[in-house]
Amino acid sequence: MRMAVVGTGYVGLVSGVCFANLGHAVLCVDKDREKIDMLNAGEIPIYEPGLQAIVQANREAERLAFTTDLADAVGRSDLVILAVGTPSLPNGEADLGYIAQAALEVGEAMNDYKIVIVKSTVPVGTNEKIRAILSRASAYPFDVVSVPEFLREGSAVQDTLQPDRIVIGADSHEAASIVTELHRPLTDQIFVTDIRSAEMIKYASNAFLATKISFINEIANICEKVGADVTQVAAGMGRDRRIGPSFLSAGIGYGGSCFPKDTQALIQIAGNVDYDFKLLKSVVDVNRDQRNNVIRKMESFIGDLSGRTIAVWGLAFKPNTDDVREAPSLDIIAELIQRGAIVRAYDPVATDNFRKAYDHPKIVWCADALTVVDGADALCLLTEWPEFAEADLERIGERMKQAVLFDGRNVFRKERLEEAHFRYYSIGRPHLNRFSAASLPRA
Ligand code: UDX
Repeated sequence: MRMAVVGTGYVGLVSGVCFANLGHAVLCVDKDREKIDMLNAGEIPIYEPGLQAIVQANREAERLAFTTDLADAVGRSDLVILAVGTPSLPNGEADLGYIAQAALEVGEAMNDYKIVIVKSTVPVGTNEKIRAILSRASAYPFDVVSVPEFLREGSAVQDTLQPDRIVIGADSHEAASIVTELHRPLTDQIFVTDIRSAEMIKYASNAFLATKISFINEIANICEKVGADVTQVAAGMGRDRRIGPSFLSAGIGYGGSCFPKDTQALIQIAGNVDYDFKLLKSVVDVNRDQRNNVIRKMESFIGDLSGRTIAVWGLAFKPNTDDVREAPSLDIIAELIQRGAIVRAYDPVATDNFRKAYDHPKIVWCADALTVVDGADALCLLTEWPEFAEADLERIGERMKQAVLFDGRNVFRKERLEEAHFRYYSIGRPHLNRFSAASLPRA
């Protein structure tokens, strides 16, 4: 098929490239000329493992091109994918301004029957609004199909090429079967439903995963008080197929471009129909508090943080991405600074993005996982990049004022820390605490 993908953010770029890889002719469109120039020069605006190679291969095969000319791309396509951003408005609601504008331009550019797939995450009822905009702008027939996107940053290519499932929301049999066939090479787990349910599936899925994370974080907090190990609890719970083992890693809470935005949006969607989504509000509160929890732990174990040097391993909201949107590191580092600490920070790829979001004269930006700890009173692990798990802890400890590690992601095993003589504090594993306040004199 010939397709135009409008929006070259995470979802648009990865979907466009993956459809090209299946043999379709794909034109990726964005208003941002700088971004399109970059892509045409073979550069990828986001850090995503595997993406560069697949973009290059498909450009060379002439199945993939980038343009700012939406009207031309739509005119040459049978199918249009809308994948523009729906950022949060100050009240948490999704901002539909970009998608409404894109729909208007697509409608004006139509020259024949088209299928318009909506991949942006949009509140229930938005596909119908898009249909109304298209009808006003176009004299040609079309169908609107909702195909929400479930890819994760850091494994976006694999998630798109081998998804767990594809959800298709449609009210036309013909369009549903064309879109089903389009996705058939990716998986046989294709779930076809009505448009409003498809829109809701996306929010409900993200809200449920966020709930699992806040749930296990609260269990971790209780484990700390009752002397249980949350990693063992999660492993035991996960053996129940009704619960499943994933998204039960306790830590410093979820961040990223989706969970924080989509949980707030769903609370707002519910509020708009006079439903108070109490459970999800608590999920959001627990997530916020889990970040402060780390600071509280540091204070209870090393005392007043003012004048202390805290080394930070990891800034990205999770490994394998340079994305710091809503990253726990932003709040935790700002809080450390607020309490008078000096922060030394290192991330393999996310430092530039972090500095654009937040910078401060009391933050020393470091080039590697070793030098960042020089002279530190404590090391705090915020993102579980593999290089941290593999670090030479003996060498790390020698460079610090005292070998103290706050592990916000439960990366380390007990034996490893004992060998390295580290004092250690993690999340929900109280038996691993090798601390006493008295053992930490102010240097
Ligand atoms: C998420 C959804 O997984 C994806 O389906 C959707 O399309 C977009 O949102 P993403 O934000 O890329 O994807 O990352 P994900 O791997 O889901 O992690 C989100 C956050 O949750 C990260 O900050 C991660 O550290 C945290 N997390 C995840 C936990 O704290 N514990 C877990 O067990 C899993």
